[in-house]
Amino acid sequence: LLLLLSVLVPRALARAPSPESASQLPAPQNVTIDSRNLYNLLRWAPVQVKKGPVFYTVQYKTQSYDKWGEINCTHIAETKCNFTSTEIQSHWITFFRVRSELEDMQSDWVETNAFMAVKDTIVGPPTLKSVVSKPDSLLLNFLPPLRNVNLFFEVEYHVHYWEKSTDVKKTIITPNTLVKLKKLRQLTEYCFQIQAAVKNSLRPYSYGLLSNTFCHQTTMSDGTKAGYILLIFVVTIFVVVGVAMGFFYLGNFNEVIKAWSQPSLKIPSHFEEDLNDPNISVFEDWENTHVEVEHWDSLSVVSTAEGS
Ligand SMILES: *[C@@H]1O[C@H](CO)[C@@H](O)[C@H](O)[C@H]1NC(C)=O
Ligand SMILES: *[C@@H]1O[C@H](CO)[C@@H](O)[C@H](O)[C@H]1NC(C)=O
Ligand SMILES: *[C@@H]1O[C@H](CO)[C@@H](O)[C@H](O)[C@H]1NC(C)=O
Repeated sequence: LLLLLSVLVPRALARAPSPESASQLPAPQNVTIDSRNLYNLLRWAPVQVKKGPVFYTVQYKTQSYDKWGEINCTHIAETKCNFTSTEIQSHWITFFRVRSELEDMQSDWVETNAFMAVKDTIVGPPTLKSVVSKPDSLLLNFLPPLRNVNLFFEVEYHVHYWEKSTDVKKTIITPNTLVKLKKLRQLTEYCFQIQAAVKNSLRPYSYGLLSNTFCHQTTMSDGTKAGYILLIFVVTIFVVVGVAMGFFYLGNFNEVIKAWSQPSLKIPSHFEEDLNDPNISVFEDWENTHVEVEHWDSLSVVSTAEGS
C-alpha cells in the first residue's frame, strides 16, 4: 500500500494547478467533442460567475508536435468551437484544451483525450439517390456521407442485400457510390442496407451507421414477357375460335333446345315395380334397423350393471 501511495501521490501533485495560474475562475466542465461525418465541434458547459460574462479560449496540439497552438477560438463568448475547416487534419491525433477567462482572470486548462477524426467520428449512412430495376439486377446510386476524403484515408461502402423472402444476406464491398446487385431473379423483391467504412492505417475499418432498409422489385425479363404475349395470343385464338363455333351452332339453336327440353327420361322397370308395391316400404326397413340398434344399446348397459 505504501508503495502504491508513493506512486500515486507525486502524480496527484503534478496534476494540481501550478501557483502562478491559481484558479481564479471555475474551469469549463463537460468538455466533449461531437464529431459526425468529419464535422467536428468541441463544446463545454457554460461557466457562471457573478462578475459578468465569461470568455473561453481553445488551444490544440498534435501527438507529433507537442506545442499548443490557437484555432480561431480565442477569447470567444460561445461555449463551442467548430474546428471543421481548420488546419487540423482528419488523420491527425490531436489534443484540445479549454479555459475560461474574465478580465485579467483565467481558469485552469481542461484537456481532452486524444482525438482522431477518421477514427472517432460517427459516420452516418449513405443517402440513397435512386434505384434502377432490371430483370436480373438493381442499380443503386447513393451519396457519400463524408464531406471530404483526402489522401490519408479511404472510404468504402458495404452493401448488404437479400431476397426479401429468404433473409440470406450477401455483401458487396466497393469504393463506388454506384453499385449493381447482379444475378437477381426476375419479379422478386430484394432488400438492401448500405453502410460506409473508413479505412486507415491505424485502424483498418471503422464502420459507419447502417442505412434504413430499402426494398425494390426486379422487373420481368423479355423471355417471360414473350411467354406472356404468346399465352395471351393463344388464349385469344381459343376465344375467337370458340365464339366462331358458337355462331356456327347458333344456326341449329332451335333444334338443340328441342333436344334438351324433351329428354327421354325413363325409370328402369324393376324400380317402377317396387314403387307400385305397397308391401315394400323404405320407411319400414329403416324402423327395423333403428329398433335393433336400441336393443343392442340396452343390452350393453345391463351387462355393465351386472359387472359392478
Ligand atoms: C456535466 O454532465 C453531467 C452528465 O451529463 C451533468 O449531470 C452535469 O450537470 C453537467 N455539468 C454541467 C456544468 O453542465
Ligand atoms: C477565424 O474566424 C473569423 C471570424 O469568425 C473568420 O473571419 C476567419 O476566417 C477565421 N479564420 C480561420 C483561419 O479560420
Ligand atoms: C462547422 O463548420 C462547417 C464548415 O465550416 C459547417 O459546414 C458546419 O455547419 C459547422 N457546424 C456547426 C455546428 O456550426
